[in-house]
Amino acid sequence: MSDSQRKILVTSALPYANGPIHLGHMLEYIQTDIWQRFQKLRGNECHYICADDAHGTPIMLKAQQMGISPEEMIAQVNTEHQADFAGFSIGFDNYHSTHSEENRELAQGIYLKLRDNGFIKTKTISQLFDPEKQMFLPDRFVKGTCPKCKSEDQYGDNCDACGATYSPTELINPRSAVSGATPVLKESEHFFFDLPAFEGMLKEWTHSGSLQPEIANKLNEWFEQGLQMWDISRDAPYFGFEIPDAEGKYFYVWLDAPIGYMGSFKNLCNKRGDLNFDEFWNADSNAEVYHFIGKDIVYFHSLFWPAMLKGAGYRQPTNVYAHGYVTVNGAKMSKSKGTFIKARTYLDHLDPEYLRYYYAAKLSGRIDDLDLNLEDFTSRVNSDLVGKLVNLASRTAGFISKRFDGKLAVVSDNSLAESFLAKQEQIAAFYEAREYGKAIREIMALADIANAYVADQAPWQLVKAEETLAQAHQVCSVALNLFRILVTYLKPVLPSLSSDVEAFMNLELTWTGLNDSIDGHAINAFKPMMQRVELDKVNAMVDASKENLQATAEPEKAAGPLAEDPISDTIEFDDFAKIDLRIALIKKAEAVPEANKLLKLQLDLGGETRQVFAGIKSAYNPEDLEGKLTVMVANLAPRKMRFGISEGMVLAAGPGGKDLWILEPHEGAQPGMRVK
Ligand code: MSP
Ligand code: ZN
Repeated sequence: MSDSQRKILVTSALPYANGPIHLGHMLEYIQTDIWQRFQKLRGNECHYICADDAHGTPIMLKAQQMGISPEEMIAQVNTEHQADFAGFSIGFDNYHSTHSEENRELAQGIYLKLRDNGFIKTKTISQLFDPEKQMFLPDRFVKGTCPKCKSEDQYGDNCDACGATYSPTELINPRSAVSGATPVLKESEHFFFDLPAFEGMLKEWTHSGSLQPEIANKLNEWFEQGLQMWDISRDAPYFGFEIPDAEGKYFYVWLDAPIGYMGSFKNLCNKRGDLNFDEFWNADSNAEVYHFIGKDIVYFHSLFWPAMLKGAGYRQPTNVYAHGYVTVNGAKMSKSKGTFIKARTYLDHLDPEYLRYYYAAKLSGRIDDLDLNLEDFTSRVNSDLVGKLVNLASRTAGFISKRFDGKLAVVSDNSLAESFLAKQEQIAAFYEAREYGKAIREIMALADIANAYVADQAPWQLVKAEETLAQAHQVCSVALNLFRILVTYLKPVLPSLSSDVEAFMNLELTWTGLNDSIDGHAINAFKPMMQRVELDKVNAMVDASKENLQATAEPEKAAGPLAEDPISDTIEFDDFAKIDLRIALIKKAEAVPEANKLLKLQLDLGGETRQVFAGIKSAYNPEDLEGKLTVMVANLAPRKMRFGISEGMVLAAGPGGKDLWILEPHEGAQPGMRVK
């Protein structure tokens, strides 16, 4: 029996309105959708809310680049996002935008309550300012040389090469990524939210016991480091909401983004009339509120957000459920490999239920990353959904239609069905705890039992003789009843297959109806419900993801060396520092007669001479090299070759043959100098 009816508000994180939805995002929306569908199937009152996150500098600049207003751009993206989500049957009860009147009112209202309660402070800070664009630059929009390892072209907040974090003012030779101008320091007054004032409340909230252990640990670390004041204002020009009584100052996007959950719900209440906003958000609300999010935004949802709500007199979330990141074929999604797959590209090639099933089969309540392995995806969907589930109906339904007038038998032995029904609370508990993988394993074990029963009874034999015809009717009816139970269990995961099954079986699949008898029930003709996944289509999707890139990417990422040979995995500075690169003078160069690719070089390191065999004969005449400077790896282990020992390596670029170019330093470098 289900619990008495709960009142639940569920959210997924609000996707940014400046880019398409991809299969990484889809993990979150599928995970949440399964949970909210499960709650509704169990008879709970549940509302699933989302919106586009439409504010901030990147969105403002992207619209400028496109030559349209930010309002136009976010309207376009909103339409695309909603179409993508609908394609995957994500059943939002409302999908709104943070750039809405409801959200403006709520954000300003919450801010004013925080201010009146003494939680807003002001402070003048110095920040990099683009004198050409006349705007302050967010960290990500300043680039320059890393102050620690001296790598060029690094972002203003951290270095990709050595991992150092720093403030953008520490960058060497900083420049604006917007205009290329050299930024200047400029003072401005900022508004801060007093997060440290909420330390006690946050500790209580986080120790209430139901947080994921990974989140609780993270929070403890943050408490130990000490909570900081949070900068919630940005100066014009900015795309967002203006701060009351502070002209030219705007709320930082992360201030009004989570309020967008409330804004979208408010919008739903306004549309529906039978829903009461306060019942869900008042401090004494007994409704439940859950936020599903990715692991990268835990800080915002488990510190700032509950503190803001508390400070403004609202209830706190019941819980925050974080998930890990999607990788494809074991690696980060990559545009050049075609594994950065947009939701739309997937939908152009494959049935969305496959992905819903695959993600569900691999999801747990923990924050582990999840690998979408495309081969495993193909075989798993084919074996489970097509081979086990749908097959159960396709092997038995035809006999009911053709031989038994479309009516199920009055079944004499219900023991199998009863054993299936005995699992319902266990399966429900797995869904509730977001242990979808465990639920699926349980359900598929039952599907195996059902298939073994059909194979064993072989109704296709029983229908051949008059005296076993009644037995055939019994077997097919039992099988279809088991099929009904299995599909009901899977209904949160497979909404579209379920609705086909409802049409075929001429009934509604509900959790409370699980125990109902379908003896004598009339069903409709079976129609094929799900195709096998074809590897061809999976490959076509990957190819199309590569093509998308060529058509839309920035020039630096289009065809060319980088597209053919993508940049390797990131290494730490220490890994790089192990390679001792030196300037070397090519004292002597000669062909190795027995080897058609090699030149033998004598390299002077300013005191030491090294002999190196280099595979550059096809591109250089030895005499042209003598007297030139180049760069060599000086600490490479010596290698014995047929013609002598090679004591290092010179650096060259290019595909080979005539197209090879060795490195030559600018004038002034001296033999023996370290290259770093
Ligand atoms: N706009 C913020 C959220 C504001 S919520 C008040 C944001 N947007 S996002 O578009 O970058 O991400 C939306 C959600 O998708 C986040 O929960 C994020 O963790 C999730 N994912 C984005 N890429 C992902 C993967 N590759 N894998 C799994 N989830 C990923 O953050
Ligand atoms: Zn660095």
